[in-house]
Amino acid sequence: MLRFLVVLCSLLTACRSSVCPCERPELCQQIREEKDFEVNLVDQPVAAKTCFCTFVYLFVSLGKGDVPLSYLVDQDNRTAWITDKVTLAKSQFMDGINIDIEQAVEEGSPEYYALTSLVKETTEMFHREIPGSQVSFDVAWSPKCIDKRCYDYVTIAESCDLLFVMSYDEQSQITGDCIAMANAPLRQTLDAYDQYLNLKISPKKIVMGVPWYGYDYPCLNFSQEGVCSIEKVPFRGVPCSDAAGKQKPYKWLMKQVNSSMSGRLWDDEQQAPYFNYKDQDGQIHQVWYDDPQSICPKADSVMSKDLRGIGMWNANILDYSDDPVARQQTTMMWNALLGSPSATEEFESKLKQNIILH
Ligand SMILES: *[C@@H]1O[C@H](CO)[C@@H](O)[C@H](O)[C@H]1NC(C)=O
Ligand SMILES: *[C@@H]1O[C@H](CO)[C@@H](O)[C@H](O)[C@H]1NC(C)=O
Ligand SMILES: *[C@@H]1O[C@H](CO)[C@@H](O)[C@H](O)[C@H]1NC(C)=O
Repeated sequence: MLRFLVVLCSLLTACRSSVCPCERPELCQQIREEKDFEVNLVDQPVAAKTCFCTFVYLFVSLGKGDVPLSYLVDQDNRTAWITDKVTLAKSQFMDGINIDIEQAVEEGSPEYYALTSLVKETTEMFHREIPGSQVSFDVAWSPKCIDKRCYDYVTIAESCDLLFVMSYDEQSQITGDCIAMANAPLRQTLDAYDQYLNLKISPKKIVMGVPWYGYDYPCLNFSQEGVCSIEKVPFRGVPCSDAAGKQKPYKWLMKQVNSSMSGRLWDDEQQAPYFNYKDQDGQIHQVWYDDPQSICPKADSVMSKDLRGIGMWNANILDYSDDPVARQQTTMMWNALLGSPSATEEFESKLKQNIILH
């Protein structure tokens, strides 16, 4: 059985030149035929260097670096916006578009309907203008109006090629004790996929997104049991959130864990690693993140739930240097996406032809 690996690109259009940056020019050609599997490009610096990409998305984030959704309630504005994106994608050899929207949307509002229409019309125009292209849409870790982002998930899923479920930032609205917790606790993460599937969204439209970053929380108070209470930073109607912490890339985490006071610890309840360290001012921090041990069971459920594939945010934050320790850590993170080793031999050998890890 072949599965799909979709590595989401975070390419900003400004970074892309209209001259093919790859050593092998065929990698710039837009993909026209159905592929057995997909490996989509990472971020620009790595991409330009290696061009191990076969599939490149134009990444747009509505309301953040792009127009607010309210402008796109208007049909003419919407059409102009889509036409513009198609032109950009064509001129930059891209194979599709990934739409990200992180602003609040109220159910039944004009924006709610405009968003659904936007996805539908974007998909129609991309498919028509760039044959074989893909339109993907980013959704929060659960369909239950997380961060007040209420969308018509079912119609949106029907209207595009795939949903990229962002299974991270799961502490953006902490309703219980205001303490540091895992970015993507296992049970909560997997239950949320059942919520999507219970809406009767096809598993073949769902790509799991896992975090390659963690959260560094300064502890206001650090209990004897190792519980780190964090500053109350409200977010969208909830008094406490992960905004009290700072997002840190995996390569930083792997260096920091070595100089931590605790070393790597494991939380059985949340099935996630964490560690504690003291900063220069003597303040204790607790850091929660994902590593191969926490990612592997998530990747396994991509297979058991028969989802379309897996991706990460984001591929560029591993250490791609020649350092042997970093190299091994980076390889293990990529391999973790394939789940437990036994299940993936065929897929892995296929993948190795397409990804350059250094
Ligand atoms: C259309 O978009 C422009 C910005 O491009 C904005 O100024 C205008 O208000 C929008 N029109 C409507 C009706 O939303
Ligand atoms: C810090 O935690 C201790 C127990 O570990 C508690 O007695 C104390 O009241 C806490 N302090 C604050 C400021 O929350
Ligand atoms: C962390 O410590 C281990 C064991 O001491 C060592 O092998 C490894 O090279 C260190 N990793 C980094 C990134 O410094």
